Amino acid sequence: MVRSALLVIDDEPNILATVRRSLELEGYAVEVAGNGAGGLAKLADNDIDLVLLDVMMPGESGLEVLPKIRTASPETIVVMMSGNATIDTAVTATKAGAHDFIEKPLSGDKLLITVQNALSFARLRDENARLRTRARSDFAMIGKGAAMRAIFDKVAKTAPSTGRVLVTGENGTGKELVARAIHDHSKRADGPFVKLNCAAIPSELIESELTQQRRGKFELADGGTLFLDEVGDMNPSAQAKVLRVLQENELERVGGGETIKVDVRVVAATNKDLHAEIAAARFREDLYYRLAVVPIELPPLRARREDIPTLVEHMIEQVCIDNDRRKKRVAPSAVTLLMQHDWPGNVRELKNVVERLAILTGDAEVITEADVGDALPRVKAVKSEFLRGTPFKDLVSAAEREIIMAALEANDHHVSNTARELQLERSHLYKKMRALGIDHRADDEGAG
Ligand SMILES: Nc1ncnc2c1ncn2[C@@H]1O[C@H](COP(=O)(O)OP(=O)(O)OP(=O)(O)O)[C@@H](O)[C@H]1O
Ligand SMILES: [Mg+2]
Repeated sequence: MVRSALLVIDDEPNILATVRRSLELEGYAVEVAGNGAGGLAKLADNDIDLVLLDVMMPGESGLEVLPKIRTASPETIVVMMSGNATIDTAVTATKAGAHDFIEKPLSGDKLLITVQNALSFARLRDENARLRTRARSDFAMIGKGAAMRAIFDKVAKTAPSTGRVLVTGENGTGKELVARAIHDHSKRADGPFVKLNCAAIPSELIESELTQQRRGKFELADGGTLFLDEVGDMNPSAQAKVLRVLQENELERVGGGETIKVDVRVVAATNKDLHAEIAAARFREDLYYRLAVVPIELPPLRARREDIPTLVEHMIEQVCIDNDRRKKRVAPSAVTLLMQHDWPGNVRELKNVVERLAILTGDAEVITEADVGDALPRVKAVKSEFLRGTPFKDLVSAAEREIIMAALEANDHHVSNTARELQLERSHLYKKMRALGIDHRADDEGAG
């Protein structure tokens, strides 16, 4: 952890010396100054966390120096010290932004406790501010282009109603974010947002998960929103059970006799094309109409490339905050390259790449086109000049390579998930990768 830096401003040399000694013994970095002007100069040259400021000094008094410190460095905590403290001075100092007041003569303990308290206050304040910015930006939906503006408009119109919403879109397009935005802009915003991943629970359990004896998800979501994720991945028996629960807006606890009324708004999401699933008799039409009172379809990122610069800007800011780094710039040519990529994993893939770029570029202040080139899976190996005179089978291999690389990238190099997305047997994918000379990371699950 970084040492906290303190600045002591007092006209008495022996006070400066003793205070400095006892604070340094505690491991603080300490600067001292004999008057206000000297203190402000130290403040300008050092990253000071806390100032101990004497009130009674010849020339400028501490009360006159205080507002200058507050202006020069608003984040710095100021603790006033005074030999003949009156309530009046303390009140004046507090009004002018002093954090605390300590009476002279300074006992070592009193000094240390005051300093520790003031510093932990500052840490909590900073952490709080950071979390608040984070929480806001975590669920912020970015997008300035026409496609996203149309989505925002729909979210704004739908949110206040209780109509069920079905959000569709490819992986990583922001379906969950839309579900949260609907909740946050509804009258239920202060109520709970409860998520159930329908693909992750066995169909025998889905009904009890929703309505079980003790607080099922439905009851937990009372007064709020129930987000049914991956609804397209339920088998017929799970679909029948969910339909039953939705039909009875008041629900009976499984096993229990009593009937409880719940007030829940359902928002569902899927990456499947439910019309095609219905046509193939894999999804119940009656369930579809229950869920999709208002359908919202999220476009893939490649269909709204105009949003990429804003997304990148937002994401880079977030990673840099998370990693306590100065915010990096992304060179315009690097942004252009990011805009050209097809992003099969959509916004999630973009976010992964931006995070990787922020980390791999270390202390560099600018992310360059070359950095982006290295971070992206190679996309356009099959160039037109390459087509001439190249045997067909080599072109096919190059295309296969690209497809597999892009799919691996979108799935965080997780081979099983990649195989699932490409609808290939895992062993077949491994064989292809070996044949094409594509490495896979050793940290993937299971045997290769
Ligand atoms: N418009 C957007 N602005 C900012 N961040 C976004 C946007 N859309 C998606 N994201 C981010 O991308 C990631 C994926 O979003 P989300 O989980 O909502 O996608 P999804 O459609 O539910 O994906 P999946 O189908 O894989 O579950 C999240 O980290 C989310 O914060
Ligand atoms: Mg999701």
